[in-house]
Amino acid sequence: MSPIDSKPILPGSTIGVLGSGQLGRMFAIAARRMGYRVHTLSPDEDTPTGQVADVEINAPYDDLDAVRQFAKTVSVVTFEFENVPAATAAAAAEHTLVRPSGRVLHTTQHRLREKTFLSQAGFPVTPFRRVSSFDELVSAATALGLPAILKSADFGYDGKGQYRIRSESDFQAAWQAVGQREAILEAFVDYACEISVVGARSVRGEFLHYSAAENRHANGILDISIAPARVPDSVAREAAELTHSVLEKLEVVGVLCVEFFVRKDGQLLINELAPRPHNSGHFTFDANLTSQFEQQLRAVCGLPLGAVDQLAPAAMANLLGDLWRDGEPDWPAALQVPNVKLHLYGKLEPRPGRKMGHLTALAHSTDQALEAVEFARSSLQAKRVPQMATQ
Ligand SMILES: Nc1ncnc2c1ncn2[C@@H]1O[C@H](COP(=O)(O)OP(=O)(O)O)[C@@H](O)[C@H]1O
Ligand SMILES: [Mg+2]
Repeated sequence: MSPIDSKPILPGSTIGVLGSGQLGRMFAIAARRMGYRVHTLSPDEDTPTGQVADVEINAPYDDLDAVRQFAKTVSVVTFEFENVPAATAAAAAEHTLVRPSGRVLHTTQHRLREKTFLSQAGFPVTPFRRVSSFDELVSAATALGLPAILKSADFGYDGKGQYRIRSESDFQAAWQAVGQREAILEAFVDYACEISVVGARSVRGEFLHYSAAENRHANGILDISIAPARVPDSVAREAAELTHSVLEKLEVVGVLCVEFFVRKDGQLLINELAPRPHNSGHFTFDANLTSQFEQQLRAVCGLPLGAVDQLAPAAMANLLGDLWRDGEPDWPAALQVPNVKLHLYGKLEPRPGRKMGHLTALAHSTDQALEAVEFARSSLQAKRVPQMATQ
């Protein structure tokens, strides 16, 4: 580590965020609260991050001159979106610190590289095969058995670019679904539940983690997270230890989330990594002394990490664009539940499946928190009379 790397980036400095979605927005809120300035770069305009940042730069990620210019104006570049080209991180690194490093990004933005790294490092993962042609898909499926899940190697999120193969008659549709491009075939995991752990690692290698969250998905998109996860302590402890090892092995400076499958026998398998704050860690914004976003800020600035104590059991429910189908949701109705907090991301167009915001409930138990957040979310549409055809 050079002496420059070890000098903390102090309040008043400017942080650069690549990407401009809700993760960057919540990061920017945390950063501004601590007196930092925030610049964001992405191809979009009037973005969730840009609305909160001091400066929003509108350029494609492969416009390396724009990226270099952006990097020159900030003390450190971090990410809220990991699917930026390796060349983008490298161009930024010519002029400023990049945390986590381009190497972490390179590994985690590509499912095949990520799973290969994990399995070679001895982490438990479901059996998988590389698939780069239809014939390879057939032989991989024969080797792994069915059911199996075919996932595009890159640019997948929220269940996009994935196809569950139940029988041989699905092969063609699966190969089409991943765009007939490099993909990974994974043996299907018949799990009891899914959990995730957000960990943070500082410049000095200190590690802290949040309690494991229990995650429910709907249509491949995270729907509800409950924290702490309702799993045995031994499972939660092992998940935290595995998360620590992943951050160490990748030498992450920043925040990284590990998604796990918990098998019915309690055994953990790592599903995937996200080298940034994660949707399943949104509860920390309201429920923890230091949120995952402030922790990312502290880590990338070379500051000490903040305490991760959780103040109360929590549950988070995502608000997707589908909720807007019949008009603006009934916000006051949800806010009548006094232990529920509303977060909206400032997105202009509520498309189906698009993450527009979330609700977090804090309560005396996770079951009560879950009940409150589900009730609040259902209240958003409760008053609506179903639209009747008038003719
Ligand atoms: N091998 C698998 N076995 C069973 N379910 C899976 C498997 N892979 C993915 N899933 C399901 O699909 C969801 C999304 O897959 P994931 O790989 O996490 O992609 P994304 O990047 O879209 O989050 C997972 O959270 C899980 O519910
Ligand atoms: Mg996932």
